[in-house]
Amino acid sequence: MAIKCETFSFEVQAQDGTARAGRIETAHGSIETPIFMPVGTQGTVKSLTPEDLRDEIEAQIILGNTYHLYLRPGLDVIKKHGGLHQFMNWNHPILTDSGGYQVFSLKDLRKIKEEGVLFQDHIGGAKHLFTPEKVIEIQETLGSDIMMAFDECPELPCTEDYMQKSMARTTRWAKRCLEARTRPDCALFGIIQGGTSEKLRKLHADELCKLPFDGFAIGGLSVGEAKDKMYETVEFTTPMMPDDKPKYLMGVGKPDDLIECIARGVDMFDCVLPSRNARNGQCFTHSGVVNIRNAEYAEDMAPIDPDCDCYTCKNYTRSYIRHLYKAKEILSARLCTLHNLHYFLTLVGQAREAIIEGRFEQFRLDYYAAKED
Ligand code: GUN
Ligand code: ZN
Repeated sequence: MAIKCETFSFEVQAQDGTARAGRIETAHGSIETPIFMPVGTQGTVKSLTPEDLRDEIEAQIILGNTYHLYLRPGLDVIKKHGGLHQFMNWNHPILTDSGGYQVFSLKDLRKIKEEGVLFQDHIGGAKHLFTPEKVIEIQETLGSDIMMAFDECPELPCTEDYMQKSMARTTRWAKRCLEARTRPDCALFGIIQGGTSEKLRKLHADELCKLPFDGFAIGGLSVGEAKDKMYETVEFTTPMMPDDKPKYLMGVGKPDDLIECIARGVDMFDCVLPSRNARNGQCFTHSGVVNIRNAEYAEDMAPIDPDCDCYTCKNYTRSYIRHLYKAKEILSARLCTLHNLHYFLTLVGQAREAIIEGRFEQFRLDYYAAKED
């Protein structure tokens, strides 16, 4: 029996060119868009507490992964806590990816069938079957505020014939996901595939956007295609999506990508980049990338980014953080993660303000000008 989400809504508050500012309501509170979602694959944004996320970074929503949490610790443990929010002590919105992307990246260890995907996990090699019904059941057990439909993200390059067959199956799976819902407080987004072909994106968007999803995502990008191809694909795909629902670009990206895709109408982003790269000492700043491992910072008394007011930049020098990194101290990962996520969340927050005030284009120009000097 198909049901509707009663706790989810979206409103576009301002538009400037194609860029939008909006507001999403969920069962665990609201989200101001455009937004970047820190990735918490294993029920934690690595090295940070929920207090860090809320108070220092002002994260409004984080992302969790069906695949990882299902395998470890498993649903019984999370159920015992009353859901993922309680398990990880994060009482704000959570979006969960469906596992489609993770399962498909297992390559040799999986088999795709109409029913779903058979795979061997990366931990103990046990066999599992993910179906649309199963991934909805898992995401509802996690208590996700925004669940993602089960999709296939075909590896590129692939033939047009394969892509068409895959998209048709993803559409059938999308319908089964909608039918499988039982909770009125968990929203569900559909995922549009089609690679970088305008024709295929249109084919898939036309089918998926007829369905009663609460929002839509662009999947299958940032998988190695050229940057201008990615921007072009986003540019022709966002107009194919309904304007009264959120538009989410999955797995993107770098700060430039956020600016360029906000300009092309995207409302939501997630990416491991700011947190993962922080652990390698790569920091994003207003003037470009600072790699804290570099010898040039050994005695540098400046903060990572002189134009940043995050906890890290208010209190520590590049010299100190480089020392921590070199000494393999875990505080280095934590301080760089705090800075990077603060930078990403501030960037989308400033983009939002600029859109509301009708000066997004100037904001975009200023952003690039700061990087060049
Ligand atoms: N994350 C990044 N890209 C994708 C995609 O195409 N599908 C899913 N489910 N997750 C993603
Ligand atoms: Zn900082």
